[in-house]
Amino acid sequence: MIRTIARYGARQVPGTTQALLKTFLRGQGVQGPAIRQFEEKFAAYHGVRHAITASYGRMAFYYILKALDLPPGSEIIFPALTFWVIPEIARVAGLRPVFVDINPYTYNLDPQALPAAITGRTRIIVPTHLYGQPCDMDPILAIAKQHGLYVIEDCAHAIGATYRGSKTGTFGHAAFFSFQTLKGLNTYGGGMAITNDDRLAERIRQLAEAEPWPSTREIISKLLSGYLQRAFISPYGFTFSLFPAFYIASFFGHQDLTRYIWEKIRPLDPLPSAYRRRYSNAQAVIGLKVLEVIDKLNAKSQEHARRLTEGLKEIQSILPPQTLPYTSPVYYQYCIRTSDPITLSRRAIRRGIDMEIMHVDICTRLELFAPYTSPCPHAESTEGTLQLPVYSGLQPEDIRQILRVIQDISRDLPPLTMTGPGNSQAPSRNI
Ligand SMILES: Cc1ncc(COP(=O)(O)O)c(C=O)c1O
Repeated sequence: MIRTIARYGARQVPGTTQALLKTFLRGQGVQGPAIRQFEEKFAAYHGVRHAITASYGRMAFYYILKALDLPPGSEIIFPALTFWVIPEIARVAGLRPVFVDINPYTYNLDPQALPAAITGRTRIIVPTHLYGQPCDMDPILAIAKQHGLYVIEDCAHAIGATYRGSKTGTFGHAAFFSFQTLKGLNTYGGGMAITNDDRLAERIRQLAEAEPWPSTREIISKLLSGYLQRAFISPYGFTFSLFPAFYIASFFGHQDLTRYIWEKIRPLDPLPSAYRRRYSNAQAVIGLKVLEVIDKLNAKSQEHARRLTEGLKEIQSILPPQTLPYTSPVYYQYCIRTSDPITLSRRAIRRGIDMEIMHVDICTRLELFAPYTSPCPHAESTEGTLQLPVYSGLQPEDIRQILRVIQDISRDLPPLTMTGPGNSQAPSRNI
């Protein structure tokens, strides 16, 4: 039988289900002491003074923006390559998103592109540590300081990553994290805001705690759908559910069926009622367990990434991820450039390896942001980058298989040439 490898894995620490059952039996599925403990441990892990839970990462961001209480129409800068929800949330919060280009090698906001985007109305820069790779924070912070701007780090992909030895999320005025099922710290949904600013923390907490508690039923249904999602991407689940569909679709042109699963791109005002909830005690129980082993789990993905890079470096049609020398990325995604992503991914799925084409959004291409965009050619040139499986649940044998298959199916692909305007430099060292 063909051995398959799904593009994603969901992290879950042994003993989680038993701990959840006990929590519900004690009547503490919704409210309970684990929420505050998780916030305290999360703050301690980052060495910051405050951590505040939220129903989603996006809501943690929303409360940070609301807590800053900026004049309506203030401008907020995002990289053009990010998850569409985040600039949309800023728009819902009354701000005007402005997109700047990325460095085409690191996929992160290009500090050199920042100054041209700053106007008299700019108030915030949002560096997104995309795919778990830290942004080049020194120049970003210097520019922010020069113009008196807030920096809010988007750490949805990057829990545990470091830049010059410090954790992402600890550089700006505040940061936010996502605990969605596929993220580094999975609590089947949820998010966290962190900051060292006492007054800002108090305002964020007031906003987050003004939301209603979810019902026990809502929490159970959230957990069940997360467990179901996890089952579909588990080795057996994937082989007998999604894989056959992806396999068949590969013979009918390029059909990425997952676009039917992702959230529909749309205006988010008024905010959906499911967003307006507090984070539950049951999810915090899971969070406490994962936080204890997060560095070990990240180390597994980092080792997979190291092996992938080692095995791919001689292939002319592929460019492995380029990282800044003084960073330690956590590899939420392992993102490659290739001369022919569609052929590569189609051939890969027929050999059992599921790769995702372009995980995040080129926001300057979205209708939703048409009033706010100017061209960002480097971000637009990433259309068709491929993400290889790199999650911590993979075994060394899986990585060997991914490499064997890629080496085999990329033999006749043309060499990759990085084209495009600008003077962005590749970092001086690979992982
Ligand atoms: C870059 C980025 N930022 C923020 C978020 C938002 O996280 P959440 O889904 O918890 O709101 C995501 C979610 O995938 C993301 O990819």
